[in-house]
Amino acid sequence: MENTKKDKKLYIKTWGCQMNVYDSSRMADILRPLGYKTVEGPEDADMIILNTCHIREKATDKVFSEIGRLKEHKEAKEASGGKMLMAVAGCVAQAEGDFILKRAPVIDMVFGPQTYHELPEMVLKATNSFGKNRIVNTEFPTISKFDHLPQEQQQGASAFLSIQEGCDKFCTFCVVPYTRGAEYSRPVEDIVEEARRLVDNGAKEITLLGQNVNAYHGDGKDNKIWGLGRLIKAISEVNGVQQIRYTTSHPRDVDAELIETHRDVEKLMPFLHLPVQSGSDKILKAMNRKHTADDYRRIVEDLRKARPDLVFSSDFIVGFPGETDQDHEDTMQLIRDVVFASAYSFKFSARPGTPAANMQNLVREDVKSARLMELQDLVNAQYLEFNQSCIGKTMPVLFERKGRHEGQLQGRTPFYQAINVPANERCLGEIVDVTITSASANALIGEVKITEDVVAKSA
Ligand code: SAH
Ligand code: SF4
Ligand code: F3S
Repeated sequence: MENTKKDKKLYIKTWGCQMNVYDSSRMADILRPLGYKTVEGPEDADMIILNTCHIREKATDKVFSEIGRLKEHKEAKEASGGKMLMAVAGCVAQAEGDFILKRAPVIDMVFGPQTYHELPEMVLKATNSFGKNRIVNTEFPTISKFDHLPQEQQQGASAFLSIQEGCDKFCTFCVVPYTRGAEYSRPVEDIVEEARRLVDNGAKEITLLGQNVNAYHGDGKDNKIWGLGRLIKAISEVNGVQQIRYTTSHPRDVDAELIETHRDVEKLMPFLHLPVQSGSDKILKAMNRKHTADDYRRIVEDLRKARPDLVFSSDFIVGFPGETDQDHEDTMQLIRDVVFASAYSFKFSARPGTPAANMQNLVREDVKSARLMELQDLVNAQYLEFNQSCIGKTMPVLFERKGRHEGQLQGRTPFYQAINVPANERCLGEIVDVTITSASANALIGEVKITEDVVAKSA
């Protein structure tokens, strides 16, 4: 058996959504007691995990080319008498597990997102019989992985907390219900406990995560089912939690309680990622989003009434099958009406196994590209305007990491804008008032507002 006392190097490469980022950090947590310490690069690693995303096309190709690149590190390690485990995790593993094992003999393990709590067992099995016992685990076990992940976590001042997983919505373009499985909400008490532990470990901000986070409906201690709004209120009462965010939400699940929570809970940050995908009712229907463009406008209006400084971000898909110029124009109009502070936009890509993959009236690639460009120009102009409107304002910034330039720290404003600020390293992990001095579409620059407290701290 391998010596579990000596430090072993674990390199994890992560693609995809915040859920995957969270999962990668939990995999690191669960492997730490086995002696694995995470490292920044693949050189000389004892184990490599590729945590993959299947959301858009070429996902599988990307994984294979990454495996091709990393193979040489495994060969180098073996040439010097060592051993390296190579694993594929995440949503491509879930969707294409057997195919990966077949096509990539260097891969020792393939396992899906619902099996991470079984990782120590799988790793021991694989290290006991290097190369002979390849593992594929893409089950959806009946027990929850959350009950079996270790409590110890290493996250910084801004920590993620997964409260809900999976999706029952079945938008016609999307693989998530197939790769992540059915919706599951963790019990309230477990989540509040985890929030307390995160704060004990230095977290000031907690971002509640789920594929469909506002579909949250977890068991409360009072034997009632709690929605996201009530959960946020409970978390805001945890000592030390200063800022709360949640992502990713669905317009259909924005209920009255959640809207009230935006009004009542100051710690809930004034930035909401609320994907709409399209502004055309016909396309929204074909996507199975189950709401209209006007429903979305109303939800935004209600939320803004509750929290006037709330800014929105969204996801858009252009070139969904059957999308006409008019449908695209409807999307553009929705963007003009709502005004976004940031957005992600994608060309539709047909995902095998989803209903939209079999739809007719495909949109030509060049038309998709033109629409994407037009949409991005509009949203870019909107971010720039919003960012510039912040110049001169002072707002609390949570410094998360060192900046690219010496003497700078990087953080986020309440509106989730990235910001670079010349600041003392002691401010790292702190929330500090910053005055915005300049702005581009992508980021802000600011300076620390000198208060006696900060002066005292950096003295
Ligand atoms: N749960 C979230 C989205 C998760 S996927 C929601 O309901 O909105 C993240 C984003 O990827 C989606 O919002 C969508 O814009 C994009 N996406 C998903 N499937 C896609 C596909 N087949 N083609 C193009 N973009 C896609
Ligand atoms: Fe995918 Fe729709 Fe579920 Fe979001 S709500 S994860 S887009 S199926
Ligand atoms: Fe990608 Fe899976 Fe997230 S497909 S977007 S990593 S849920």
